[in-house]
Amino acid sequence: MLVNMKEILHYAKLGNYAVGSFNIYSYETIKGVLDSARHQNTPVILAFGEKYLENMDFELVYGLVKTLSKDIKVQVALHLDHCSNLENVYKAIKAGFTSVMYDGSSLPYEQNVANTLKVVEVAHSCNVSVEAELGSLAAGVNSHEGKSTDEEIYTNPLQAKDFVQKTEVDVLAVSIGTVHGMYKGIPNIRIDILKKIFKELDIPLALHGGSGTPEDVIRNCIQNGICKINVNTEVSSYTVDKLKELLNEGKRYHLSQISLMQITYVKEVVCKYMKLFE
Ligand code: 13P
Repeated sequence: MLVNMKEILHYAKLGNYAVGSFNIYSYETIKGVLDSARHQNTPVILAFGEKYLENMDFELVYGLVKTLSKDIKVQVALHLDHCSNLENVYKAIKAGFTSVMYDGSSLPYEQNVANTLKVVEVAHSCNVSVEAELGSLAAGVNSHEGKSTDEEIYTNPLQAKDFVQKTEVDVLAVSIGTVHGMYKGIPNIRIDILKKIFKELDIPLALHGGSGTPEDVIRNCIQNGICKINVNTEVSSYTVDKLKELLNEGKRYHLSQISLMQITYVKEVVCKYMKLFE
């Protein structure tokens, strides 16, 4: 069942749990994530970022997700991850995405507010939810998002309150020390900042950079308002490492078998995170 992400996160906020948002860019990742949701009996967010438009276009992503989630009992949202291009936001909405993230976090504040407002107006008129980000995540190891020069800018709680009041976004992504990719050293996650943001805002909060974040930190974040957790790098690196092991064993595989193995490995890592977020 494909639904607006706001609906999924409304229940997560009430129930004090988080919903995993996993990046998709191929048949195998879509099937692996949906099979995990079926197996764990938990709602899920499938996140497609504009950087993967070389792999699939919006219509193809929507078609596959719609077909593969036809008989699923849990709620599924198809979400546009980090998108700074307004045209692409509108294309995703037109293609049938049920949620979009407009990322104007690198723009001057007033410009970010103005652009986000435009997105909210269009998206809400189509029953599509909107996520935005304030602050900025640094780049870790093997990050496939952002730039290697990205630096940490923590979310300012009072600015976050002003931003949500002005734009009426449904979900806010916060920057509290997680990184896109794996951590270079010991993670320093600022739960103190998260607590202040949580106090100021009523809407569900999103945590990007889930890969490699220690389990106790994840639990602490969920206790303090995080309802959506994004995971990308670890699904890819786990699957690639397992495939490397398999191929190194020396047996010759047919490509169709490799496709099935990819789905199995994606499912293993996604289920691990789903259990943690419950
Ligand atoms: P990781 O690659 O660190 O898991 O981050 C994913 C993410 O935040 C997607 O937007």
